[in-house]
Amino acid sequence: MKATFRPGAAVRGTLVPPPDKSLSHRAALLAAMSAEPVHVTNYLDAADTRSSLDAVRALGALVDTQPTSSAGTGDRLMIRGPGLRAATPGAAIDVGNAGTLLRLLPGWLAGQPDGSWTLDGDESIRRRPVDRVARPLTAMGADLRAREDRFTPLAITGRRLRGIEYELPVASAQVKSCVLIAGLLAEGTTTVVEPEPSRDHTERLLARAGAGVSRDGQRVTVTCQGELLLDAIHVPGDPSSAAFHAAAAVLVPGSRLVIEGMAANWTRVGFFRILQRMGAVLIGDLEERATASADAEPLCELDVAHGPLIGTRVTADEVPLAIDELPLVALLGCFAEGETVVEGAQELRLKESDRIATVVEGLRGLGADIEATPDGFAVRGTGGLRGGVLHAHGDHRLAMLGAVAGLASREGVEVVGIEAAAVSYPGFTADLAALTG
Ligand code: S3P
Repeated sequence: MKATFRPGAAVRGTLVPPPDKSLSHRAALLAAMSAEPVHVTNYLDAADTRSSLDAVRALGALVDTQPTSSAGTGDRLMIRGPGLRAATPGAAIDVGNAGTLLRLLPGWLAGQPDGSWTLDGDESIRRRPVDRVARPLTAMGADLRAREDRFTPLAITGRRLRGIEYELPVASAQVKSCVLIAGLLAEGTTTVVEPEPSRDHTERLLARAGAGVSRDGQRVTVTCQGELLLDAIHVPGDPSSAAFHAAAAVLVPGSRLVIEGMAANWTRVGFFRILQRMGAVLIGDLEERATASADAEPLCELDVAHGPLIGTRVTADEVPLAIDELPLVALLGCFAEGETVVEGAQELRLKESDRIATVVEGLRGLGADIEATPDGFAVRGTGGLRGGVLHAHGDHRLAMLGAVAGLASREGVEVVGIEAAAVSYPGFTADLAALTG
């Protein structure tokens, strides 16, 4: 499906971003592991997070969905799961396009002695590596077999696990979360050492569920648990989705956008810190670095307005904190004075598409002066963008990037494959139309 996004209209009004995708996946999984039924409010109703609900159902959970009628609020769910140690064995689980589900779920299944499951997904999932979770889980004693030792289908046979200390080769919240979840079921203690901080939603939720979880610098440790007990979970607005409208507001003259109910977790708002550094006019209460005991997810209101930008350098330590928003940094760089460089972001090559290749090719096709590097990209700001055609390559964030580029361009952008946006943000084009209408 194609859609054209024309330049001109300012972005004005209030946005309540869709519920956070990362937290919705975690809410579904950890609620299903909980010993008591869990109420989840503002759950994201999108393709990716429906895959997580289908997966927990296949593992024995009952999910009662009560859609809410008011605009901008997600689903109300009640999830009654099989609990930490009683996932129904024997299922073939389709993770769809959801990389987070693909990486987190094996942590739970690996610790269910003698249960067997096979995880598989769509064409994009079949290109995404699972050896990154198979390696630590095998070291803990589980039995995992991946196609070519690296890809789905991934067959998992659960075993009695033992705790390990695992040094992540690259910062990854998905792999960290997988090992911590397996650690709940493993004898002794399990420690994950992160090279750089990454999103900490799993740690916060585990702490809320009564699990023994502690952080010492870059080391996160969990202990074996008899059960998890979670209170109700409210999912905040997704900063990764809000980032698209925020970028549009910064780029299109006359814009002024208020974003309400967005997650302000320090580990998720790295993009907004980069935006501020580039000179964007942005008022908001972005959370200071979390303390070890913080288990709630803070919310904030942001006020974003159009203004000039200066180029910046995004370094490796910032990458995990803004990983899904880096395509937008490339777009902003086209409009900034001087050069914008992103380095240490080789992980982008392993996302829903090779996001170094697809972003560089996509923006260059619209007239950008951008080049790929092995671990990121470099953009020379020219003060604008011509426009043209951008292919989403089935990648939701590419589709939304093309739409924002169109609004900010001189001639407009036709996005081929706009339907991909529904993976994380089904209401994206409707929200954009409402803010520019
Ligand atoms: C996610 C972590 C990130 C991110 C992905 C969601 C998560 O992936 O890109 O969209 O929910 O934990 P990595 O852990 O591979 O960096």
